[in-house]
Amino acid sequence: MSTFEIRVVDPADESRLKPWWVAAHETNTDRPYDAYPGWEVTRARLTADDPEHDITLLAAYDGDEVVGTAELWFGLKDNLHLAELELLVPPRHRRRGAGTALLNDVERRIKEAGRTHLVTAAPSLPGADSDGTHFAAARGFANAHFEELKNLDLTQYGDGLDALAAEQGDLDGYRIVTFGVWAPDELVDGVCGLLSDFMDDVPLGELAFESSTWTPERLRAAERRREERGKVIFSAAAIAPDGAVAGLSDVGTTPPETTKAEIGLTMVGREHRGHGLGLAMKLATHRELRAAYPECQRVETGNAGVNQHMNAINERMGYRIVEDFHEYQKVL
Ligand SMILES: CC(C)(COP(=O)(O)OP(=O)(O)OC[C@H]1O[C@@H](n2cnc3c(N)ncnc32)[C@H](O)[C@@H]1OP(=O)(O)O)[C@@H](O)C(=O)NCCC(=O)NCCS
Repeated sequence: MSTFEIRVVDPADESRLKPWWVAAHETNTDRPYDAYPGWEVTRARLTADDPEHDITLLAAYDGDEVVGTAELWFGLKDNLHLAELELLVPPRHRRRGAGTALLNDVERRIKEAGRTHLVTAAPSLPGADSDGTHFAAARGFANAHFEELKNLDLTQYGDGLDALAAEQGDLDGYRIVTFGVWAPDELVDGVCGLLSDFMDDVPLGELAFESSTWTPERLRAAERRREERGKVIFSAAAIAPDGAVAGLSDVGTTPPETTKAEIGLTMVGREHRGHGLGLAMKLATHRELRAAYPECQRVETGNAGVNQHMNAINERMGYRIVEDFHEYQKVL
């Protein structure tokens, strides 16, 4: 096994951040689509202020060359027991110990910070193993949750979305309102309520995430950060006949990478399910995305294999599974 030097990368130092990104981005060669974002989008994300997270970037150096990257997240508002990790080694540098060297450094940092749970994930082609799943098994991670990553090919299924929208009934008295990054003032309390329920509602398997509480101040700060990062968001809320916010969904794209977009979240409050709101909200956000960015070719999403209702909606819209996503946890 080679010896690697593990160094912290300051995102403000472009001479360090760029080679870090080059190595992380090179892992796209191992994926069926360009999953890792481009330089501009990554730089904007990592140099933006984020009072909700303490993010540490690490690089494994072999001499002057970055041969592996780690992005370590500590939540600062909730989940203080937990750390999230993205660990990437370009295919041509694998099986030489860079992944292990980075993981050892990460685990030391997590223990020093007094946190106990490390959560990470590895993609694989559907039904198959991958370098990441082998690595996780060899390095003591337990399978905690299973998701499917899906892509919607708008060049193929875009027009079908209009046909689906035309088939929509009257939604049993619910209505859909759309907005951008900023939730309208009158919806803020309802949106916060739904977001606070989200972690309790979404299937998360064995992952040790706690629920989080959203206040109007926290929501507005999160919206401001999204805007500062250059994200363009198309949101939809479902409004119940009595005016309550019953559901929420969004899709976003980040210029200049407007040929692709991704779903942020979709949720319908428990007492409002069964009225077709999930599909109606998603059709609304996708319609706005396509109108504003006709060049957009692909929308990415991911959801739990056991999430039947969301799977059915995605299937009808034309989302197709491109990868399995294995989520792992290690108690340190
Ligand atoms: C996972 C990843 C970071 C590992 O990086 P790496 O530098 O190749 O890892 P290491 O060389 O330290 O491998 C450590 C051990 O994991 C196991 N392992 C890793 N890849 C393996 C493979 N393809 N088949 C079987 N075992 C494998 C082996 O036990 C290996 O030890 P060995 O080489 O002495 O047999 C890299 O494969 C990767 O970037 N994959 C895609 C992204 C990903 O899935 N990341 C999350 C992983 S939890």
